[in-house]
Amino acid sequence: MNDYLQIHRATDDVTVLHDRAEIPGLGVLPVNTFVLHSEQPVVVDTGLSTSDKDFVDQLARVIDPADVRWIWLTHPDRDHTGGLFRLLEAAPQARLVTTFVGVGILGCQWDVPLDRVFLLNPGQDLDVGDRKLSCLRPPLFDSPVTTGFLDRATGALFSSDCFGAPLADAGLAGAESVREVADQDLRAAQLLWAAVDSPWARTVDRSIWHRAVGGFRSLDPSAVFSTHLPPAVGVPEALWDNLLEAPEGPEFVGPDQAALEELLASFEPV
Ligand SMILES: [Fe+2]
Ligand SMILES: [Fe+2]
Repeated sequence: MNDYLQIHRATDDVTVLHDRAEIPGLGVLPVNTFVLHSEQPVVVDTGLSTSDKDFVDQLARVIDPADVRWIWLTHPDRDHTGGLFRLLEAAPQARLVTTFVGVGILGCQWDVPLDRVFLLNPGQDLDVGDRKLSCLRPPLFDSPVTTGFLDRATGALFSSDCFGAPLADAGLAGAESVREVADQDLRAAQLLWAAVDSPWARTVDRSIWHRAVGGFRSLDPSAVFSTHLPPAVGVPEALWDNLLEAPEGPEFVGPDQAALEELLASFEPV
C-alpha cells in the first residue's frame, strides 16, 4: 500500500492526515482527518471510501490504531466514513461518537455495534481524560447529523464541512496552512463550497445568519480544523468574513445531462 496521505503535525497535539478529491470544474477539495493526541486519543473522521484507500494502514503511521479511544464521526457522508468499520475492529477500546440519527443513517448500510456507540448531542461535553470536548453544530453543514467540537484545553475548533474550500490544485489543497491561499482565492472557494454543500444557506434570514456566525465566532478558537480546508492555526479574520457572506454567494447549478453527453462524446473510443 502506498502512503497516499500527507501527514503533518499542525499543533502540539493535532496531527493532520490529508487526502484530496478532484471535483471536475470545481477544483481540488481537501479531505482531512485528524488525530487529537489527548490522554484518550481521538480520531476525527475516517477519510474517503473508495476501495483503493486503506485508512487504518495510513493511520498507523501516526498512532497505533489499538490505542485509539474515540472515533468522532462528524457525520456519515462517504468522504468521512472510509475507514470507520475497519478502525472499529483495529481499535477494540474505541467508541464511535455520533448522534441518534447518525446511527440510523449508518444502519441503512452497516451493522452498527450499539455497544461501541457513544451518543453525543450539541451542547454536551465529551471527557477524553485530560480535557473536555464541547460538541457543537457549525453554522454550515450538509447533514442533520453534523457535529463538530471545541477542545476546551487548547481552543482548537473542529468544524466538519464548515469552512470548506475547493482549491486550484493539489499543492494548495495539501498546504500545511490556509495562509498559503491568496485572500481572494479563499473567498471565492469558500463561497463556492457553501453554494455546493449547503445550498440552503441562501434561504436563511440574514439577521439569523449573522447571529449564528457571530455566536460561533465568539468561541474565538485558536485554530480551525475543517475537513475540507488546509489547517488554520491562528484563525485569519477572512475565514469568518467569508462564512458571514455565504448567503450572498453564487447559486450552484451542476452540469446537466446535455453537458454529460457532450463530455462523453468527446472521449476517444478505445
Ligand atoms: Fe458532508
Ligand atoms: Fe465532507
